Amino acid sequence: MQKTATIDEAWGRKYPEQVVLAITKNAKGRVNLMAIGWVCVVSDEPPMFLIGIDDHAYTLELIRQNKEFVIAYPSSAMAKETLYVGTTHGHHEDKGAKSGLKFVPAQKVSVPLLTDAVANFECRLVTEYRPGNCPLIVSEIIASHVNNDDSAKRLVNLGKGYQLEGLRVSN
Ligand SMILES: Cc1cc2nc3c(=O)[nH]c(=O)nc-3n(C[C@H](O)[C@H](O)[C@H](O)COP(=O)(O)O)c2cc1C
Repeated sequence: MQKTATIDEAWGRKYPEQVVLAITKNAKGRVNLMAIGWVCVVSDEPPMFLIGIDDHAYTLELIRQNKEFVIAYPSSAMAKETLYVGTTHGHHEDKGAKSGLKFVPAQKVSVPLLTDAVANFECRLVTEYRPGNCPLIVSEIIASHVNNDDSAKRLVNLGKGYQLEGLRVSN
């Protein structure tokens, strides 16, 4: 049986939702990260990701400038760091350094990989469009990396208000 619900109420049933981190770098070499739940694979030949990034995000500005970035799958041990980079803007804050996360150089892009991530994808901007109110970024994956430790588990968002495996803030 089904009952009529608001879209918000029905969307509330989508969890658990995957979370990725978009890693970017500014002109001075400062690394920035943001958390993203609106992400999906949209092509496997060539391999492509689509991410939805709010107009106010510093990440959007940096992707438009550099045309390259990294998408990382944070591990379940990174809930606190993910919440931090996902609730603070990087315009005036060095989130890469302050997060305490570790980075290693990538192969093909100037932006670093997240050392302890479950996986990292080096991405190049293909196109951007806006079918609704959110800018959508389509990128091609040009290199990928996985953690040596197969037991590293992905972080997921368990519910509205960013319930990152035990950590919760309301928004
Ligand atoms: C679990 C989680 C998921 C999020 N998903 C998105 C998303 O899909 N799109 C988005 O624009 N912001 C999302 N955010 C919010 C951004 O990460 C947040 O606005 C961030 O501060 C932007 O950082 P920046 O301004 O340094 O780029 C999410 C935050 C969290 C914690």
